[in-house]
Amino acid sequence: VVYFLPFFFPGDFDELTQDNNDILLKTIAEDLRNCLPLETMLSSEHLALQKIQQQPEPTVHVDAFLYDEDFIDSLCEQGKMSRNYCMVCGSHQTAPLGFISHSFSLLELKFIYHHVLPDLSGKVLVDVGSRLGTVLYGGYLYSSASQLFGVELNGDFCQLQDVIIKKYQFTDRIKVLHADICTQGSLLQNADVTVMNNVFEYFLNETEQARAWDYISHNVRKQGSLLVTVPSLEDSLSGLQVNIQLSSWVEEIPLNYDVYPEKDIDREALEQIHLYQVL
Ligand SMILES: C[S@@+](CC[C@H](N)C(=O)[O-])C[C@H]1O[C@@H](n2cnc3c(N)ncnc32)[C@H](O)[C@@H]1O
Repeated sequence: VVYFLPFFFPGDFDELTQDNNDILLKTIAEDLRNCLPLETMLSSEHLALQKIQQQPEPTVHVDAFLYDEDFIDSLCEQGKMSRNYCMVCGSHQTAPLGFISHSFSLLELKFIYHHVLPDLSGKVLVDVGSRLGTVLYGGYLYSSASQLFGVELNGDFCQLQDVIIKKYQFTDRIKVLHADICTQGSLLQNADVTVMNNVFEYFLNETEQARAWDYISHNVRKQGSLLVTVPSLEDSLSGLQVNIQLSSWVEEIPLNYDVYPEKDIDREALEQIHLYQVL
């Protein structure tokens, strides 16, 4: 049988695969939404829940991988979510609620794998605090990394990641470890890419954060390896009692945040993403 595809070019094929990967990630998000509460936080996350309540402005956790802007709009229309809080009880004065997310959005994942990181063929990536597994699934679909390791402290989230990894047959390249990252020295020493999306701030007290950063700075040492962080290392370490000399550990690689000019995107979120190379 001969098929004639007169308008089909290699570029279109790439687009087509990209679209399929986006659809697959959206299907994974739907699976996860179906087995997690709307606030996507577990009752076992005492400290993280407490820290959200202690924010200077009323803040809610809305997971950016599970709920994109359109989804939030439709939940607001159904009265299941609100973007505002009442400033004076009973009045109509309202102010925008603060939103925080403990996961990367689909767009942030695409930005990281398409525009931040180089070709990862044969490389090992470690996601510190892999939670729902978004960095791992994104890495499986959007990169050629040979191995993607997630390390997660919370056992319930590890089980959830395992369910998704098996269901979508990602077992050949993804592995999740239920552990404190501070026990995973050799994994960190061998990583070509280490990803750290606001791992410690909401989940550990300040002494534990300082200890964990100390461990990271002693073990993420492979020369030339890459470290992706949110927020910047300077911001993450400020206010903590650590003695880490950034200038002798890493060099920041500037990123171009203008890669999606035509899209209505949350540029501020992209600007929180930083890339470093280990010296
Ligand atoms: C903000 S989430 C990051 C989620 C995921 N990496 C992403 O970008 O979508 C941080 C996760 O780190 C985990 N975590 C905090 N401290 C940890 C530690 N010492 N070792 C392993 N995981 C940790 C938390 O349980 C939480 O699920």
